[in-house]
Amino acid sequence: MTLLGEPNGPWPIWMAPLTRSRAIQPGNLPGAMHAEYYAQRADPSDGAVVIISEAAPVCPEGHGYFATPGIHHREQVHGWKQVTERVHGVGGKIICQLWHVGRVSHRSLQPANQAPVSSTVVPAQSKTYIDAEGHRARCSTPRSLSSDEIPQVIDSFRTAASNAMEAGFDGVEIHGANGYLLEQFLRSGINDRTDQYGGSLENRLRFCLEVAAVVIGVWGAENVGYRVSPISGDLDGDRGDENMLETYGTLAKQLALLKIAFLDVVESFSVGQREPGLDAICQRMRESFSGGNAGLYLAGGGYTRDSARDALDSGRCDGIIFGRDFISNPDLRRRLREDLPLTPWNRRSFYLGGKEGYTDWPCA
Ligand SMILES: Cc1cc2nc3c(=O)[nH]c(=O)nc-3n(C[C@H](O)[C@H](O)[C@H](O)COP(=O)(O)O)c2cc1C
Repeated sequence: MTLLGEPNGPWPIWMAPLTRSRAIQPGNLPGAMHAEYYAQRADPSDGAVVIISEAAPVCPEGHGYFATPGIHHREQVHGWKQVTERVHGVGGKIICQLWHVGRVSHRSLQPANQAPVSSTVVPAQSKTYIDAEGHRARCSTPRSLSSDEIPQVIDSFRTAASNAMEAGFDGVEIHGANGYLLEQFLRSGINDRTDQYGGSLENRLRFCLEVAAVVIGVWGAENVGYRVSPISGDLDGDRGDENMLETYGTLAKQLALLKIAFLDVVESFSVGQREPGLDAICQRMRESFSGGNAGLYLAGGGYTRDSARDALDSGRCDGIIFGRDFISNPDLRRRLREDLPLTPWNRRSFYLGGKEGYTDWPCA
C-alpha cells in the first residue's frame, strides 16, 4: 500500500490530526457524528489524500483533555470502526494517531485521580481542558515512571496499535510531538532520569524508538508514521533541549533506519511565520530522513496555498499537512487545486460541543 495515494500528484495534501473534544461520555467514545465529520473530508480527490485522526489516547493514563476518544477499550474500537467504514465508503484513507500525554494532564482526568506519569516530577507549564464546560486547569504535578513500569507503557502502544488495526484504520501515526510523553523523554531539559532512559541522547531516544519498534511490529514500517514538533515549547516558550539540531537530526536518522512510511514535521502554529533556527532543524531532519528506502517527509503548520506550492515545488517536502483549514473546508484539496477561496475557521468551535462548527461546514 502507498499511504500517499498518488505519489506524483500535484497536490499531496493530508489532513492533520485535530483534537475536537467531542467524544461521547461516559467512555470517551467516537460515534456516528465523528464518522460523518471524517467522511466529509475523506474523498481523496476533493478532501484529504490521507486523514490522520485526532489524537487517540493509548491507555487510561494517556488522557490529558476532556472528551478525547481513546483506542484502548472495546467500545472505543467499535466506535472507530464506524469512522473507518464511512471513510472507506467514500474511497478515503485514515490513520490513527497514537497518543500518550504524559504530564500534560490533570488528576481529574486520570484513573483514581492519581498523578499523571512522565519522565520527570516537574509539572508541565501549560493548561488543559478538564470538563464539558471548557474549564481549564494547570497541569498536575506528575510522578516519574520507574524503570520497571516503562515496558508496560510501551506495551500499551502495542495494544493500541493492534486495536487500531482491528478498528479498520489504514495505518498509525505515533504522536511524538507537542510536548507529550515521547517528547518528555526526548528533550534533555525535561527528562531528568538517571536510568537507561535518561541522560545521553542515546538514552533519551530509547523510549521513542522502543515505542516505534513495537508499533512497527504490529503494522509493518510501511504503515507507520511519526510526528515531531521541533519548535514547540511550553507556555514560556521553553523548548527544553539545548541541542535541537542534534536531537532531532538523530531521531530522524534512527526513524529512517527503521524505514517508517513518513515523518510528519510540525513546523509552526502560526501562518506565514518561520521561527529563527527552524529552517536549519528542518533541513537537518530532511537530510537525516533520507536514503534509499526513506519514507515521505511531510511538512505542516501555518501553510497557505502559495507557501504549500513553494514547499512542494522546491522539493523541501513530499506532502503538506493542513490542520485548521480542513476544519472549515471539507473539500480543501479541491479548493487549493482550483484556487477557490477558503472559508475561515472559527476558534470558538474547535473544542467541545456538538455538530455546530464540526459537521456543518459546506463544500465550495
Ligand atoms: C483544534 C486543534 C486540535 C489539534 N489537535 C492535535 C492533535 O490531536 N494531534 C496533533 O498532533 N496536533 C494537533 N493539533 C495541531 C495540528 O495538527 C497542526 O499541527 C496545527 O493546527 C498547525 O497546522 P495548521 O496551521 O495547518 O492548522 C491541533 C491543532 C488544533 C488547532
